[in-house]
Amino acid sequence: MYTEEVMDHFKNPRNVGEIKDADGVGEVGNAKCGDIMKIYLKIDEKDIITDVKFLTFGCGSAIASSSMATELIKGKSIDEAVALTNKAVVEALGGLPKAKVHCSVLAEQAVKSALYDYSQKTGKQIKGIENYKPEDPHEH
Ligand code: FES
Repeated sequence: MYTEEVMDHFKNPRNVGEIKDADGVGEVGNAKCGDIMKIYLKIDEKDIITDVKFLTFGCGSAIASSSMATELIKGKSIDEAVALTNKAVVEALGGLPKAKVHCSVLAEQAVKSALYDYSQKTGKQIKGIENYKPEDPHEH
């Protein structure tokens, strides 16, 4: 039922951990399953994501999705990271069962929310997430 890529990223997740002096931190949660995902970004003066780490308290698909999402945005520009969709994460994982697609949505939201945090902290406008309203995962 799970692809090899999903199992691989679940068993050997890439970029696990936190970045103490992160330039942007995003935390999102899914109210239904209660899973929480946190993403940390280091961004240089050329708007390149030089480092990214994640912590996910959630299901295997959420761990695999966040691991894949961090791999997909590492070394990329802010614009490329904004454009990351949950669909791209699912595709890179070789597919997710239908009931698990929301786990990949969490990864997309965590990335956007970390970029939003970066834009708030630096006062830089990031095209595509000007009006992004991250949900507070602790409200549920
Ligand atoms: Fe909710 Fe996977 S079951 S994030």
